[in-house]
Amino acid sequence: MASLSFPHVRGSNSFSPIKTLPTSLTTQRLRTRVGFLRVVADADANAKHPLGEPDLSVTVNGLHLPNPFVIGSGPPGTNYTVMKRAFDEGWGAVIAKTVSLDAAKVINVTPRYARLRAGANGSAKGQIIGWENIELISDRPLETMLKEFKQLKEEYPDRILIASIMEEYDKAAWEELIDRVEQTGIDAIEINFSCPHGMPERKMGAAVGQDCALLEEVGGWINAKATVPVWAKMTPNITDITQPARVALSSGCEGVSAINTIMSVMGISLKTLRPEPCVEGYSTPGGYSSKAVHPIALGKVMAIAKMMKSEFNDEQYSLSGIGGVETGGDAAEFILLGANTVQVCTGVMMHGYGLVKKLCDELKDFMKMHNFLSIGEFRGASLEYFTTHMDLVRRQQEAIQLRKAVKKGLQSDKDWTGDGFVNESESMVSN
Ligand SMILES: Cc1cc2nc3c(=O)[nH]c(=O)nc-3n(C[C@H](O)[C@H](O)[C@H](O)COP(=O)(O)O)c2cc1C
Repeated sequence: MASLSFPHVRGSNSFSPIKTLPTSLTTQRLRTRVGFLRVVADADANAKHPLGEPDLSVTVNGLHLPNPFVIGSGPPGTNYTVMKRAFDEGWGAVIAKTVSLDAAKVINVTPRYARLRAGANGSAKGQIIGWENIELISDRPLETMLKEFKQLKEEYPDRILIASIMEEYDKAAWEELIDRVEQTGIDAIEINFSCPHGMPERKMGAAVGQDCALLEEVGGWINAKATVPVWAKMTPNITDITQPARVALSSGCEGVSAINTIMSVMGISLKTLRPEPCVEGYSTPGGYSSKAVHPIALGKVMAIAKMMKSEFNDEQYSLSGIGGVETGGDAAEFILLGANTVQVCTGVMMHGYGLVKKLCDELKDFMKMHNFLSIGEFRGASLEYFTTHMDLVRRQQEAIQLRKAVKKGLQSDKDWTGDGFVNESESMVSN
């Protein structure tokens, strides 16, 4: 594989955008990844539904999903039983809980979650708006998880199952893991470059996603090995998320997912003075998710989508929006910013797998309101309304000039008239 270098990703805030991918890399991918090629053939997947009913189906990196709602990696994808349930309830795709080669190294603690409620002083009755976890990746033996992936693909051959993987800084380990998950028949791989707690202590997860040079190297190993589409899951715990996203795509990934959880401390008990979640009197910073992170996730997805639109071929790469989705409207926002799919994790932990029906209905209602018949009709539609602050100032000054021109007579004292005096006075009142 061609070696890529990104001088702009370290220590400089001025960089030249990458306009094209290295030819050798694109050609190699086009030849080797069948699914990736199919995206071109499936370009009509978002065509209008013949009956006029909104069509929620999407095709990303050659993978066909009945709707854009994907189970995000975490507890809702931990084992066969729950993943089967997700397919039965109608989720568009399932991303399993992150696996690694040696689950024996993964030791979880309990309690491992803490919630934030709206209302005075975290009122016990307030709505849950934030969720912190200090959960690690899957602690189940890899063999067991692989057997379950295989069984699910045999029982649901037309449904999309995505393996989430993470390994240490070791090329051979990544290659072995990719090989073994691919043998189960999974449709794509999501790389967890983003878990903010526990795993970075072993130079895994966010430790890679926060270091563009490391990401470029590991991304190169992964993409030289993988034969199914690869999505890179990004951490928001970085100043400029477009930098690792750019490196991931340039290293050969077909898609980017954002965001993983935000590094956080949920709170301190004012009774015991101990932090939450409290394990034997102690805690460790964890990952924040749920409704409270939705605006932050929108901001990160917007930035990545803009970068992808200007530097990469929008049709060949995919973007998966994640963070605080509980309604069809939340999902519509991600899609309006350019996401092809939308992942849900904490929402499923709070509302159950049946949530997908409500999400689909609400997304359809939104589409009917605007006469959109397919996801493709509005994907990225709001992106063009983001601009620089300087441009906002220019637009506002132009608008004020226009309004002033309309309100003739107010520009100078000489313009007051007898007949229009009351109206002219009124035009200068602010309330
Ligand atoms: C309890 C819990 C465990 C998680 N485990 C994983 C994981 O194993 N791998 C991963 O990539 N993301 C994991 N995540 C992150 C979610 O997939 C998602 O990126 C994040 O929670 C934001 O989305 P949400 O607000 O819909 O939960 C986990 C999240 C939670 C709440």
